[in-house]
Amino acid sequence: MTQPHEQLAGDRVLILDFGSQYTQLIARRVRELEVYAEIRPFRIERAEVEAFGAGAIILSGGPNSVTDEGAPTIGAWIYELGVPVLGICYGLQLTCQLLGGKVRKSDHREYGAATVRKLSDEGLVSGLGDEFGVWMSHGDVVESIPDGFVVHADTESTPYAAIADQERRIYGVQFHPEVHHTPQGKAMLGRFLFDIAGLRSGWNMADFLEEKAADIRAQVGGDHVLCGLSGGVDSSVVAALLHRAIGEQLTCIFVDNGLLRHNERETVEKLFGDHFQANLVVVDAREQFLGELAGVTDPETKRKIIGRVFIEVFEAEAAKRSDAKWLAQGTLYPDVIESVSPTGGPSVTIKSHHNVGGLPERMGLGLVEPLRELFKDEVRALGRALGLPDAVIMRHPFPGPGLAVRCPGECTPERLATLRAADHIFMDELHQSGWYPKCWQALVVLLPVRSVGVMGDERTFEEVVSLRAVTSTDGMTADWVPLPYDLLGRTANRIINEVRGVNRVLFDITSKPPGTIEWE
Ligand code: XMP
Repeated sequence: MTQPHEQLAGDRVLILDFGSQYTQLIARRVRELEVYAEIRPFRIERAEVEAFGAGAIILSGGPNSVTDEGAPTIGAWIYELGVPVLGICYGLQLTCQLLGGKVRKSDHREYGAATVRKLSDEGLVSGLGDEFGVWMSHGDVVESIPDGFVVHADTESTPYAAIADQERRIYGVQFHPEVHHTPQGKAMLGRFLFDIAGLRSGWNMADFLEEKAADIRAQVGGDHVLCGLSGGVDSSVVAALLHRAIGEQLTCIFVDNGLLRHNERETVEKLFGDHFQANLVVVDAREQFLGELAGVTDPETKRKIIGRVFIEVFEAEAAKRSDAKWLAQGTLYPDVIESVSPTGGPSVTIKSHHNVGGLPERMGLGLVEPLRELFKDEVRALGRALGLPDAVIMRHPFPGPGLAVRCPGECTPERLATLRAADHIFMDELHQSGWYPKCWQALVVLLPVRSVGVMGDERTFEEVVSLRAVTSTDGMTADWVPLPYDLLGRTANRIINEVRGVNRVLFDITSKPPGTIEWE
């Protein structure tokens, strides 16, 4: 159920980040419970916390020991705001330390699955079974809990698995309720948010959209913003969101590098130019890219050329909008790597978009990154709320260097046309058979070999393509998809009949590792 935005004031959660690799998962679980959540670094002023207006506060885990000098910490005022606080792992240890309990460093880290035993049917664990599985990952050990706290659950090796000061509404768990390996974790977070903090659910992507649009307007004011549009999911969602937020103040730049798939440029023009009526600049840089790629066959050299030319083209176009002050990027949470240095607090390193790396600094542009808190499936939900079609939202990933990394050997216009036509047929067959959404990514590679064949009565000596389809969650590892024989057969037939110059089709059954998804 969607509630009007104003009614949700207070129904928001502030997550303070102490550097855990799981912090983003906490936010994600809260959002899954339909409550708005934001992550802020632990170094936050009391006034900022008060201004945020949280109805509940969660202190994340973290890799440090609370006993280390200079370890991330926060003032005890965080417990005096009258807002329920949940400390997870490091957050629990910190709570104990700050409120008068005792924490000691352990020689060994407890890591992995553990069974929690309920000692009392109260607080976070109320309503759960007497015993349940959780995921542990901690080094510090709580030796004594502060006055006013009671124990609700323990494990064989941890006497304080779940503790609470119910009067002050301060809770702590030693395990990680946010991870998959704690099956009842979401139920526990739900107890905290709804039963303990009294928050109301109902937040959804439509609310996120309005909040982000307001944030963007506040960030950029009356300035002009540039957005590099690739036609992929992330940049399309960013462009649509910015267009919704600031309309005419946005210029989208789409670079046709000659390495695009069938109809890609037309699709972007139709959607962003005609449908959204956004300021869209399409730069036809095909000659420039293909000219520089002529005669080049080394994979890394190809990639470097494409990266460099892209920046040159984009920068020249951006320079024409000299009033632009901002560059919008589709950085997602998985691109934001959180780490805690031994001496400092959590520091955020951004994997800058490979395509426009360095550009913001050189051109003095500020960054607008409205998707920073989101995971891919949440970006898709946001895209849907923005009215983007499924054809865009459910698109497979496509690499920045485009068809070039699927065209071992030289990228000539003729070879690219062959590859594009074969790819189009494969995609068409995948869509028609319902297999497209079941694959994480599917592609065609044009091999740099020719093979002998026979067509009619004639001997042929033509090109070879290879089909590839994989499942994956993040592109880091992948498995090949056992596509049905009839689908493979139909695709091969069509490619050989409809694409001139191809007389053989292979199917790539290599997983990653050892193979990468792309061929170059
Ligand atoms: P590999 O081939 O390394 O690819 O297994 C993993 C995932 O990343 C995509 N990919 C890229 N994406 N710029 C991108 O935006 C690139 O240079 C690039 N290279 C590979 C690839 O399509 C797959 O999804």
